[in-house]
Amino acid sequence: MNVSDSELMLGKLTASGYDAVDGPEGADVILVNTCAIRDNAEQRVIGRLGELRRFMGRDTILGVTGCMAQRLGPKLLETDSRVSLVVGPDAYRALPQLIDGARNGERFTATDFDLEEHYEDFQARRFDGVKAWIPVQRGCDYRCTYCIVPYTRGSERSRQLADVVRETEEVVAQGLTEVVLLGQTVNSYNDGTSDFGALLRAVGAVPGIRRVRYTSPHPNDFSDSVIRAMAEVPTVCEHVHLPMQSGSSRTLKRMLRRYSREDYLACVDRLRAAIPGLTITTDIIVGFPGETDDEFEETLSAVREVGFDDAFMFKFSMRDGTPAQRLPAELTVPDAVVDERFERLKDLVRGIARDKNMRRLGERREVLIEKEARKGDGLLQARSRDFKTVIVPGDLSMIGTYLHVELTGTTGSTFTGAPVAERAALPMA
Ligand code: 5AD
Ligand code: SF4
Repeated sequence: MNVSDSELMLGKLTASGYDAVDGPEGADVILVNTCAIRDNAEQRVIGRLGELRRFMGRDTILGVTGCMAQRLGPKLLETDSRVSLVVGPDAYRALPQLIDGARNGERFTATDFDLEEHYEDFQARRFDGVKAWIPVQRGCDYRCTYCIVPYTRGSERSRQLADVVRETEEVVAQGLTEVVLLGQTVNSYNDGTSDFGALLRAVGAVPGIRRVRYTSPHPNDFSDSVIRAMAEVPTVCEHVHLPMQSGSSRTLKRMLRRYSREDYLACVDRLRAAIPGLTITTDIIVGFPGETDDEFEETLSAVREVGFDDAFMFKFSMRDGTPAQRLPAELTVPDAVVDERFERLKDLVRGIARDKNMRRLGERREVLIEKEARKGDGLLQARSRDFKTVIVPGDLSMIGTYLHVELTGTTGSTFTGAPVAERAALPMA
């Protein structure tokens, strides 16, 4: 979502006569787009603001945008004298005027919420030449007790389906074939007429689109309509990132996730029954206040029961102003316990992923070539429909094209692939 917001801001500034430069050296304006979801994300921003000072001349404008800007507002102006702009997620429209004002020596905070704001007239300037992030919903109406997002991004609102389809058509015209629909609880999308199932069908039918993904759904918003669309629309990929957060119903209750362990597992079953070959990844928080050894064991057993393909794992970070702050202090899980649980969870998740991936060797996949592999060396990084990273041989001219490969090796998390003839690329292509 932040990358997508950066693309919108860059588009707006480009339309106002600015040009992007490759790095901070010599820039007239430096905007740091920020996340507030965990304390370490914010600490990194503070470090970055410090580093940027050495690139700044006397007239360089430094601004902080995004969720940390929204959360801290004028405090950021007080704590860092070089910052002259603090702009929250609903206020990017004003950026050109705010920058003009900053050039005249003024300092601003723009953090009002605007429930109508979708930046519909902005022409996103995309960083990625292969897949396009398309925001379809902003804000969040859930109130998970650990989460700062409802307070930094405001209430949930959906774009009009026709606008999303128009943007999809534009990205196809620019030569992109994959879109990722974005929303905080993206499958609760509803523009007043159409639900997320209808949106998947409409976007998935845009001529030239070959892959549709979305992130992140909430388990409670998987209606039959959404699951049917996912199963029936050939361009919608066989992968879902389904945040679980915890495998313990008691922890989930304190988190106010609004589902139990059993509900989550039932959601996984419904998805798997409808979509053959579906891969599932998740988010898990370790050390939420009050998490007992038993509750943590329930998370481990849920991880085993689902058999996730991968997981993002986070140590709980208390955020100012979230409902979790009202939980009794004695529920705090000691750091040493959190660290130990985190390592155990990581080992389990990695082990399960490795076992699953080993069993996939010899299978075939259609992959989309995304970029040069980190190793370089005539290697490219590609992605299968089921969200596996596959390293394939080839040259940079192949970026953005599709290839059929056999999975020949795995590190446990990523694969190597050897090209095969297309007609043989069954049954999982
Ligand atoms: N502490 C730790 N992890 C968090 N997440 C959200 N808020 C917190 C927090 N306060 C995680 C959740 C979410 C992901 C984007 O970040 O797992 O799904
Ligand atoms: Fe945060 Fe919960 Fe909303 Fe996700 S659904 S953004 S975790 S409040």
